[in-house]
Amino acid sequence: MSFIARNLAERIATEIETDHATLLGGTKAADIRELLELRGILLFPRINLTDAEQLAFSRTLGELVEQGDKGLYKVTLDSKITPTAEYLRGTVLWHFDGFSDDVPARASILTARKTSPVGGQTEFANTYAAYDDLPAARKEALGKLRVVHTMAATQRDVFRDAPAAMQAVWASFPPKVQPLVWTHRSGRKSLLLGSSADWIEGMDKAEGQALLAELHEWTTQPRFVYRHEWHVGDMVIWDNCGTMHRVEAYPDDSGRMMHRTTLVGEEPIA
Ligand SMILES: [Fe+2]
Repeated sequence: MSFIARNLAERIATEIETDHATLLGGTKAADIRELLELRGILLFPRINLTDAEQLAFSRTLGELVEQGDKGLYKVTLDSKITPTAEYLRGTVLWHFDGFSDDVPARASILTARKTSPVGGQTEFANTYAAYDDLPAARKEALGKLRVVHTMAATQRDVFRDAPAAMQAVWASFPPKVQPLVWTHRSGRKSLLLGSSADWIEGMDKAEGQALLAELHEWTTQPRFVYRHEWHVGDMVIWDNCGTMHRVEAYPDDSGRMMHRTTLVGEEPIA
């Protein structure tokens, strides 16, 4: 059994060197969960799990979201394989998954099956660290704000000339109001941002959007960000409650294929 963890950057991301038996046996599951919350991103370079192994390993960490084929969702721009591929275009913008959920997914586990010759790398930002580094007075002021998240906000910057029918579909998703600062059960706090953050409740719309833009810029500073350059066989886990992520645009016909499993959420946003 081997399990060696080393930090990739000061404020985010840890690389873990281990083996299949250790992952599948679940003996390190509690350590992995703890490290994930602490570091935001865990990388298992070229671990090369099969689909069955990815599912089995994911189940050692928690309950799986029902998605795709028996819990395994194929992230691809090919809509013949994944009918919801069109929505993935919005993932080039910083976001967390499931903005409209009361209890957002705990974490996602992503394995690279085929990389794109251009683009397709993924960036992650630590929203705990971004909050921690704010001045005390700012933390207090931001702690009072509530943000309205909408589907339209996640799509409109990607489909700039969206026809009315498309906009009507976006509008059919109910907006979701969330606190700007998430106070976790652990007592730690994180900024809750992402492309779905559309405006701030009770604030002039333009003023609120300017504040959201400023906070996005703050949170995605290099010191809070880890950029992963994928190799086939890599596995990355992100804490969906303490990070945001985005993918670099890649060509429709690149063949890029990632397999994702997702852990059911455990903590309501508060
Ligand atoms: Fe995502």
